[in-house]
Amino acid sequence: MTNQRKPDYRIHEMFLNRWSPRAFTVEPITQEELLTMLEAARWAASSYNSQPWRFIYALRDTPAWERLLNLLVLFNQSWAKESSALVFLVSKSTMRSPRSGNEVPSPTHSFDAGTASGYFALQASLMGWYVHGMVGFDADRAFEDLSVPKGHKVEAVYAVGRKADPAGLPEELRARDLPSDRRSLEELAFEGGFPQ
Ligand SMILES: Cc1cc2nc3c(=O)[nH]c(=O)nc-3n(C[C@H](O)[C@H](O)[C@H](O)COP(=O)(O)O)c2cc1C
Repeated sequence: MTNQRKPDYRIHEMFLNRWSPRAFTVEPITQEELLTMLEAARWAASSYNSQPWRFIYALRDTPAWERLLNLLVLFNQSWAKESSALVFLVSKSTMRSPRSGNEVPSPTHSFDAGTASGYFALQASLMGWYVHGMVGFDADRAFEDLSVPKGHKVEAVYAVGRKADPAGLPEELRARDLPSDRRSLEELAFEGGFPQ
């Protein structure tokens, strides 16, 4: 284990090793590396195998980088500008009905995209990279600037980077650049129903 997280039950260490730092090294990432992370996301389960996830990405120092970075709220820009890639996760809100073959609303498009995002972050972690999710971005502008088609939702954006020493962060962020803990499983899992 590379950090102090302690699970209630023994699990694979990859689940504990993934966390969301804000101190990144500005190291370049290759398209091959990023696509490998998204390949893991592609294999997530989804309702009726509808695969509603779509990814819009930019590697740092490429033409699209500034456009994607500028969609983040200023707080997120302040640290994500040191990351190596930005990935917007978009989900398609309709799917082909397995019965009629028509496009119908998908009640699970965001849920399914969330599963894919977890696979993405875990694969990145296994490759020695870190993924930090953000909802702090301008959703209306993202729709426009990313040419998102109608019937899609921009769910979140992810900064991908190599971990740097937090000493380079503004003081208020430095102390927070640590793996966080979790509620106990006792507070989350109930046999048969919620406790009365
Ligand atoms: C969907 C999503 C949105 C998030 N939005 C932000 C954000 O806008 N800014 C930020 O600094 N962190 C953001 N976070 C990071 C969470 O605060 C972080 O994942 C959580 O505290 C758990 O910590 P860990 O990922 O290090 O285990 C977001 C995480 C997720 C999954």
